[in-house]
Amino acid sequence: MTALQQTKRAIKKLLLGETTVPERFFVGMAEPQTEVTVWLQGMGTPLDVTLRHSMACAVPLIICLAFDKSDDLGRRHFDRLSLAFREERGEQRMLGEIGLRYHGTIPHPQLQLVLFTVKKVANYCLPGFRMSMHYLIRSYRQWKGSRKADIQMSFLDKRAVDILFICPRSVVLVSASDASGRNMFPMNVMGDLAQGTFAFALKNSKWPAQLVERTRRVVLSSVPQAQGSYAYRIAANHNRESIDWYQLPFPTKPSTSSGIPIPEFALRAREMEIEAVEHLGSHTFFIARIVQDKRYATGVELCVIHGFYQSWRMEHGVDRSSSLTEHERVRTEAH
Ligand SMILES: Cc1cc2nc3c(=O)[nH]c(=O)nc-3n(C[C@H](O)[C@H](O)[C@H](O)COP(=O)(O)O)c2cc1C
Repeated sequence: MTALQQTKRAIKKLLLGETTVPERFFVGMAEPQTEVTVWLQGMGTPLDVTLRHSMACAVPLIICLAFDKSDDLGRRHFDRLSLAFREERGEQRMLGEIGLRYHGTIPHPQLQLVLFTVKKVANYCLPGFRMSMHYLIRSYRQWKGSRKADIQMSFLDKRAVDILFICPRSVVLVSASDASGRNMFPMNVMGDLAQGTFAFALKNSKWPAQLVERTRRVVLSSVPQAQGSYAYRIAANHNRESIDWYQLPFPTKPSTSSGIPIPEFALRAREMEIEAVEHLGSHTFFIARIVQDKRYATGVELCVIHGFYQSWRMEHGVDRSSSLTEHERVRTEAH
């Protein structure tokens, strides 16, 4: 390491302390996760929306909330709503908040699907000074353009994503196929809505969004933590128009309903039919109906959380060294 690199590292350590955790942090959890509850505030008694929301688009950041048809939504309250991310157990400490602004609705036969953008955010995972230092470094990197991201989120929206990923999000491998193309790729921008409805978002600029819009049918396979590194390995399939199933680095089996290849190691496979497609900005948002939910085995699944929340977990009892080792294994293990 050069003297300059050493100095940079020392300054970073001074500013960030023990909170230099990768932003996209991989953990293993039994699904559904029971660490964090997401509450909708501002419409009377807070409503548990942990299994009723999904990120719908990154630029601009849009969040979709699902309500029953019978819910009286009184639109006048919409701009007073916020999402609160709390510990599910123990002291139920507040971890983060996102203030919402009404954006629109998506027509749906069984649900009221309401879209929101972000008005303000508060993240309580790190002490104020450390959080400010992270934001400072992030702004500097954005300004310098050192992060060659294919989409550029606003500072506010990026902070809202940090909070959305306080709630552990499982990673799935999506299979889709038709006569002119087939693919399997990882995905985690998604969420249960309600009543057997599910939602997910894929970047417009990548091939999978076009494939899924065409096939209107997908299978989402959950990934055991032990096989987590495969999700990372086949991320490049987002850049492929089509793949050959036999080129996948693991064996497959046919899904029980449509017969599309899914990983042999899948713990659970959910087959879905696409009901609605919304082009929202950087992402295409898919609303799907679960037509079959097959559980093959139980076990710890691969999930993603934000590094700020992982720092909070390590401050509150999660072992630092073993969790960092496990994260690195997912990112680097070669099979
Ligand atoms: C674990 C994981 C989850 C991902 N989830 C999504 C997703 O939900 N939606 C999406 O459009 N892309 C998703 N991606 C794809 C990445 O955003 C990116 O497009 C892909 O890794 C290709 O990287 P590149 O653009 O740097 O070549 C995911 C990638 C990984 C590794």
